[in-house]
Order: sequence, then structure tokens, then C-alpha cells
Amino acid sequence: MRNKIYFDYAATTPVDPRAARAMAPYFSEKFGNTMSLHNFGQEAKNALEESRQIVADLMGAKQNEIIFTGSATESNNLALKGIAFANKNKGRHIVISPIEHPCIMESAKWLEKQGFKITRLPVNKYGLVSLGDIRKSIGKETILVSIIHASNEIGTIQPIAEIGKICKEKGVYFHTDAVQSFGKIPINVNEMSIDLLSASSHKMYGPKGAACLFIREGVGIEPILHGGGQESGLRSSTVNVPAIVGFAKACQICKKEMEKEGVRLAKLRDKLINGVLRKIPNSYLNGPPAGLLYPSSSEASEAGHPKKRLPNNVNFRFDFIEGESMVIQLDLLGVSVSTGSACSSVKLEPSHVLLATGLKHEQAHGSLRVTLGRWTKESEIDYFLKVLPPIIKRLRRISPFKNYGK
Ligand SMILES: Cc1ncc(COP(=O)(O)O)c(C=O)c1O
Repeated sequence: MRNKIYFDYAATTPVDPRAARAMAPYFSEKFGNTMSLHNFGQEAKNALEESRQIVADLMGAKQNEIIFTGSATESNNLALKGIAFANKNKGRHIVISPIEHPCIMESAKWLEKQGFKITRLPVNKYGLVSLGDIRKSIGKETILVSIIHASNEIGTIQPIAEIGKICKEKGVYFHTDAVQSFGKIPINVNEMSIDLLSASSHKMYGPKGAACLFIREGVGIEPILHGGGQESGLRSSTVNVPAIVGFAKACQICKKEMEKEGVRLAKLRDKLINGVLRKIPNSYLNGPPAGLLYPSSSEASEAGHPKKRLPNNVNFRFDFIEGESMVIQLDLLGVSVSTGSACSSVKLEPSHVLLATGLKHEQAHGSLRVTLGRWTKESEIDYFLKVLPPIIKRLRRISPFKNYGK
């Protein structure tokens, strides 16, 4: 039997063996609590601070600007609620996009119930927000703009430096959810005028259970967890040192390999996109067109340019069939893909991201997300291109939507 093919790197990634090796001593040998004064504690504390420096380096931040959390869901909750409650006397208006991850969407909804006003800006058919809309949405009451850096579903990379510039000019905080971009494309919090940034270890070949929130020096934030005062009082909890050490090692590896890996993956991505669109009639690409190999931060200045897609993201749409049936058929052949984000795939609701780009319910239902990563080989793309067309043909033949493909 053929080896399994994993094409769901946006949901989670395997831990790189180099990160796993770096973590190993911190389970049973160097297991101290970072708050303890004795040698075990100090050893753990040193590992924590070294890790903080390494994570900070990958985004051009200072060591003291990184807070470790347990997940990006937690980082995003802390960013939104923490800024909201620290600034509630200044203003109560927050701006987000309609293609944020559920942890931003739901935090915003919860804040609405607490009396905050949320503006959800529209996006164009590629999932891009308009800089003009951002500018217009910021008023006297606005305290925060939070826009996802790269979409977990359709891979759209927002003009983050331009958005940061507008927020800086207008004197409002700017948060970005960089979970899908951190370690994959260059990020510099200073060049991009970012005040807060969330990233997650398990999306970049580190372990689950570690994530971070960058908080620019001087930005006040209210904690949501109260307790022993770890992480400068912003995230009380005993620190998960092994996971953080693994996260830091994963950052080091990404820093070294990012550029080469980005080009390699973008080539595979484009081969996959071109192959599917050529071989399968009535198939479409959701999100920005392929073709731009490796967007750098300077390219962000061509705001609104549609060719801005993560190097590892592909999202297709096929007429007359449902994403779930494709996922099951591919899974039977050992190929793991998804219909959208891992969170939404269990809900069987059309993706809010695809709907926001203007797709109809039935179009969004016919979508398939294929995300590539460090262990993706060209032969796996070839295999996918071989097995997908007959699957689509078969599903269309039995589709209630249209008697297609006979
Ligand atoms: C864009 C984005 N933000 C936030 C999250 C949540 O991250 P975590 O799994 O670390 O809570 C995810 C994970 O799917 C994501 O893709």
C-alpha cells in the first residue's frame, strides 16, 4: 500500500525531528518550574528566555515584547480582549475583516455583548481588504484594527505594512493574526508597523501547546488569566518549557530555510493549481491567482495586488459536488485534504471566508483546501493529479445537482 499523503499542513504540521530533539531534555531532566529559585528552576528559566529571544528574532521584535501562551486561540483572545479592556475609557470600537479565524470572530462577537462596537470590513473576490475601507472605518472611538496576515483557508496575504502604516498615522493599535504566515514568509513588526502579532508553534513544525503574542513595548494590555504572574503578569500559568523550546527551535529552522522552502513550495503549488484547472472541467481556484513565487515585505506596497498567496496554499472549487465527499474519497486513497479550516470542517457549514469573497453557498460547499509543507514531494502532487479527476467524474455522475460527466 502506498504511503499516506498529508496535504493538510494548514491544520497542523508534524513536529520537525530537530525540534523534537531540542525538546527532549526538558521533559524529565531539565523539568524545573521557571518560577523556582533553585538550579532546576533557573535552568528552565534560562531556556525560556533564550527561546523568547529566538522567537522575537524571527519577527524583528525585542525579547521583552514576546509573551508565550498555550495556543494562538489564546493569543488572539488576549490581543482583542486585552486591548479592549485596557482602552475602554479611550474608545470602544474595533475593526476586523470578515475572513478572520473563528477565535477572532467569536472574541469580537463576545466583545459586542460587552458593549464594544465591531466593524467587519468587506473583502474583494480574492479575500483582500481595501486600504481605503480601513482608513474610512477608523474613527474617534476606534482603539484597535485586527486583520489576519494570511488566510488559513484561501492563502490571501493582506497588505499588512500598508494597513500598519494607516493605523500608526491614525493612532490606533494594529494586531495581526500571523498564524499561517509566521515562519513561511518574512515578517518584521517594525517595518510593518504591527503593535500585536499572534503566532502558533504547531503550524510551523513545532509542538502543540505553545504559541506567542508579540506586544509592542509600551502597549498596555489587560490580562485575561490571573494567577502567579508569569509572563510579566499577562499570562499566569506554569510555563510549558518543553513546548516553548520546541517552538523556538522550529523558528530557528524556519528562519534558515524559509526562503528556499518558499520557492520550492510555490513551484509545487503552481504545478498543482495548473494541473487541476487543466485536467478538470468546471474547476476553479478560490483566492488569489498563483504565480507570485515569494512575496517580500517590500512587495506589500503594491496594495491590492491580487497575486498574493501563501506559497503552500491551494483552494479549489468544483461545480456540482460537495467538498466532504471529495475529502472522503481522497482519504480512502490515503490522501488527507480538507474542505476548509480544521475547525469549520466538522460543522458542515459553508466557509465564512468563501462566502465573504462572494461565493454562493453551493459554490462554497464544493471547495477543497490542499495545503503543502516541508515533507511534500513532487511525486505526491503527481499522484494527486492522477487520482482526483476520476474521483470528480464519479461524484459528478451521481450528483443530484447535475447529470454531469457521462
Ligand atoms: C489563522 C489562524 N488563527 C488562529 C488559529 C488558532 O491557532 P491554535 O490552533 O494555536 O489555537 C489557527 C489555527 O487553525 C489559524 O489558522
